[in-house]
Parts: sequence; structure tokens; C-alpha cells
Amino acid sequence: MGAPASSFVLPESASRGLGTRPFGVYVHVPFCATRCGYCDFNTYTAGELGSAASPASWLDGLRGELELAAATLGSPPPADTVFVGGGTPSLLGADGLAQVLDAVRQAFGLADDAEVTTESNPESTSPEFFAGLRAAGYTRVSLGMQSAAPHVLRVLDRTHTPGRPARAAAEARDAGFEHVNLDLIYGTPGERTEDLRESVETVLAAGADHVSAYALIVEEGTALARRVRRGELPAPDDDVLAADYELIDSLLRGAGLHWYEVSNWAASPEARCRHNLGYWLGGDWWGAGPGAHSHVGGVRWWNVKHPARYAAAVAGGELPVADHERLTGSDRHLERVMLELRLAEGLPLDVLAPSGREQAGAAVGEGLLDPGAAAEGRAVLTGRGRLLADAVVRRLVD
Ligand SMILES: C[S@@+](CC[C@H](N)C(=O)[O-])C[C@H]1O[C@@H](n2cnc3c(N)ncnc32)[C@H](O)[C@@H]1O
Ligand code: SF4
Repeated sequence: MGAPASSFVLPESASRGLGTRPFGVYVHVPFCATRCGYCDFNTYTAGELGSAASPASWLDGLRGELELAAATLGSPPPADTVFVGGGTPSLLGADGLAQVLDAVRQAFGLADDAEVTTESNPESTSPEFFAGLRAAGYTRVSLGMQSAAPHVLRVLDRTHTPGRPARAAAEARDAGFEHVNLDLIYGTPGERTEDLRESVETVLAAGADHVSAYALIVEEGTALARRVRRGELPAPDDDVLAADYELIDSLLRGAGLHWYEVSNWAASPEARCRHNLGYWLGGDWWGAGPGAHSHVGGVRWWNVKHPARYAAAVAGGELPVADHERLTGSDRHLERVMLELRLAEGLPLDVLAPSGREQAGAAVGEGLLDPGAAAEGRAVLTGRGRLLADAVVRRLVD
């Protein structure tokens, strides 16, 4: 395991089945206007980057990486899904995001019914921005809302005004986007039940057809972690998080949005995020951009994180890969159980070892797995099981 950038070669055996599984392209945009105190994603403010890198040098690097990617894969299939994430892709503007999609088209082509998503921060969007994205070929937008409560947004260091995400969702729909996601974070210190209820109701009134709701994670090395350590803020409480999750699920279900992954709800099967389903179902994807991760046929690799190192590697004609690993049979088994068990479709019981199947039987008895699904040969989490998904996974693979 592990190799310096220049020696990364994708084994022929890994790319052989390309096109028989869904193929996605992820593009990482490593820029944010300011850093939110809770976030440890690979992203940089202009002040942090100085003159070392810029959106222009990043875009040159991206084009170069995508060309190298197409050559590495031989004759890659057209992308079934594209997901531009960050960071803050909307800082590139509609023109910049159109250029990103053109670069993907040029390298791989797009399937006729491709799903093309970009994440956007509400404060850097407008009706013109969404119209430009539509014209460029984007089919889906994902907006970081987090909360409707001003005091919660302040703790999270979010700079948008509370009403802006819902207005942005409406503008996206008016521009012709049928598929709009809003991200929520729950469990923020100081968030009350009525704040969370208002956030979910705001999402529903905005007409989003998809919601991602994440429990606040206090990531090591973030400003939030330092504030918690100093005792300025309490850490999120597990019982509160569980009650919050149940409230979110019941409000969304009541409005016709159903969970299809533990943290994701959709108004219809077409509203589900196909790109993320590709990750969860063991598909292939090329992740381009600083720090992006890729997976093709059981080989996983990840790029150097700093935008300046990334641009320099590509300018030198090399894939900007920091390291790679070949998944063993047991790695792949563990990942499959971990990811598929989180889906509403669940996991076929016959992929489990005999001890895992026995544990699944016990988990049905404890109300963690659905008895009807188990009778049909699938492990599907119940509502209570979803609150304890990680613990159930550990039992099924031990
Ligand atoms: C990395 S952000 C990128 C999109 C965009 N910049 C934004 O903030 O909306 C994607 C989502 O991850 C979630 N997220 C990031 N850090 C998190 C944390 N520490 N705990 C829970 N959710 C987090 C937020 O909901 C955010 O909308
Ligand atoms: S949460 Fe989003 S906007 Fe905030 S720092 Fe992270 S990537 Fe940037």
C-alpha cells in the first residue's frame, strides 16, 4: 500500500469492468469565502491561499487531470453522474461551473440521462446563477442551509441570512431545476426542539424534493472542537441527537419525503441522488481536484490536498495522486455491509458470514432490523436500528 505520486498506475484488472457498473465523476472545488468553525473539509479561503493558487490555476489543473484520467482509463464510459462539491462551487459562478462541466464532457462525455449536481452556498447564488447552470446542463442543485434559526447559524459561523436558503431553493425551481436538495445540521449547541422543527418546516415550504440531515460532528482540529474543549460550548448530546433524528424523520415522512439512506430523504425514487447511490453501491468514480478520492474496480486512490501541489503535479504531466490502496476481499465485504446496511433497500442477508446471519437474527429480535424484510432475505434497519446503525454494522461483520 502507498506510493509516490508519479508511480500510480491503475491495474488493467481494475478498469476491465468499467461501464458495467455506474460511472460517476466527482469534482472538488477547494475554495470557501470563509471557514465554518465545524468544517474540516479540504477547503481554503483566499487569505489562506495567498498567491499560491487561484480558481484559474485550479481550473487549469482540473482540465489537465481529467485528460490524464481519460488516458489512464483507456476508453472510459460516459459519466452517468457528475457531482461538483466542495468547498463552495458557487464561488466559481455559473460561467466557471459551465467550464467545469465542459471539461468533464470533453474527457468522458455524458450519458444521455446524466444526473449533474452542484453544491452551492445560498449566499453566492441568484436567479441568473441558476439560469446559467441550467443552460450549462446541470440537473440538480444541493444547497447548504443547515438551520433556519439565526442563533444556530451564528454558532455554526454560517454567513447567510436565515431566509436565504429557502429563497435560493425557490429560485432554483423557477429556473427549471426539478431536483433541489437542502442540507441540514442538527444537534448544534443551543439548538432547541422548536428551532429544529422550524428548520424542517422551512425546508418543506421551500419545495425541496431531497433533504440531507447530518448530526453535528465535532471534528478534531476545528474551531468548534477548540470551543468545546475550552468549555465554551457543550458537545452534542447523544440522546438529543436521537430525539432530533426521530423528529426530522417524522416531519419529513408526514410530508411525503422518505428515507432511502440513513441521512437522506427523497420525495420520489427519481429524486434520490444517483451519484451518492453509486458510492454506496460500490460503483466506480473518478474524483478530480485537490484531495478528491477515487474508486475503480477495487482500487482506491486520493489526490494531494493542497491546491498549489495539485496544480504543480498536473502541470508536470502527472496524476496528482498522493496514495492508493487495493481493497482486499475483507475490506470490500466490510464496506459493503457498512454502506448497504444504511440504505432503505438494505443488504442481502446471504452476503453475511454464518455468525453475521446469526447476529442479524438477534438484531431482528431486538427491534433493530425489520422482521418482514429479514423473512425475505434482507437486512433492513428499523427506525430504532437507524439510530444505532454503526453498532448494528459492527455486530454483522464481527
Ligand atoms: C462540506 S459541505 C459543502 C457544501 C457547502 N460548502 C455548504 O457548506 O453548504 C457539505 C455539507 O456537509 C455538512 N457538514 C460539513 N461539516 C459537518 C460537520 N462537522 N458535521 C455535520 N455536518 C457537516 C453540511 O451540512 C454541509 O452542507
Ligand atoms: S461547511 Fe461548506 S462553506 Fe463552510 S467551510 Fe465547509 S465547505 Fe466551506
